Amino acid sequence: MTASIIDGRKCARDVRSEVAEEVRLLQANHNLTPGLAAILVGEDPASAVYVKNKNVACQEVGIFSEIFKMPVDTTQEKLESLIKTLNEDSRFNGILVQLPLPSHLDERSVISVIDPAKDVDCLHPSNVGKLIEGTPMFIPGTPAGIQELLKRSGYSPNGLNVVICGRSNIVGKPAAILLMQKGEWANATVTVCHTGTTDLSQHTKSADILIAAIGKPNAITADFIKEGAVVIDVGINRVADTSKRSGYKLVGDVDYDGVFNKAGAITPVPGGVGPMTVAMLLLNTLKSAKYTL
Ligand code: GUN
Repeated sequence: MTASIIDGRKCARDVRSEVAEEVRLLQANHNLTPGLAAILVGEDPASAVYVKNKNVACQEVGIFSEIFKMPVDTTQEKLESLIKTLNEDSRFNGILVQLPLPSHLDERSVISVIDPAKDVDCLHPSNVGKLIEGTPMFIPGTPAGIQELLKRSGYSPNGLNVVICGRSNIVGKPAAILLMQKGEWANATVTVCHTGTTDLSQHTKSADILIAAIGKPNAITADFIKEGAVVIDVGINRVADTSKRSGYKLVGDVDYDGVFNKAGAITPVPGGVGPMTVAMLLLNTLKSAKYTL
């Protein structure tokens, strides 16, 4: 068997064009332009690229956006003070703080300062609570992107075994919550594996849909998956590649070439989940603007 390729670039393009049309209508009918403030602390090259991509994507769909850069040694007080200012700034319907933050900053405290009504990453405890309840204000970008990819490529998780490798607050935990909810494009039996899991492959082999969010290149090889499984690769890892001008290439958490001949469907890296995460952030910013009407 060879896998169907789930094209995240195409799905993301479709979502972006739907968002662009809705932004146009919002401007025409309500004179309202959605706005996103992105805060970048420090000089981490990968984070800088992600924030720049989000900024460009906003502009392409007509969302106003601004990047607020802070030095790596910024204080907790300065960062939280900027967030409080942005909470009051009506130009911005969404505020995102690019993670991870430098280690001297308390991430939980920073996130708790964001106005939940502008928390388009869905990280504030009150938004996480609503997500668990099944009445979300926002759905976090990566889990929402995964669900949308499944939907747009016709792989319903309803009644299936979904196994998630990784328990981060930004991907693993919310993806588990989202896909176990009673409802369309969810209703799965979800298992979450992590660094404390003793026999990883015993679990992953039971997956009809396997979501890898580990952060380690090629961690999931063909022997970890069931024949015909749908494999969603969330990893974006930089590995050395002297043939590239940058000196590196991006690979996922899944050994793509090895798994390709066994899976039923697979997301590539790059071009899978990554573009969908950005597209769903745009959707959340639009949604946030609509909440103000
Ligand atoms: N770092 C990696 N992914 C994300 C994301 O989706 N949002 C934020 N704020 N930081 C991230």
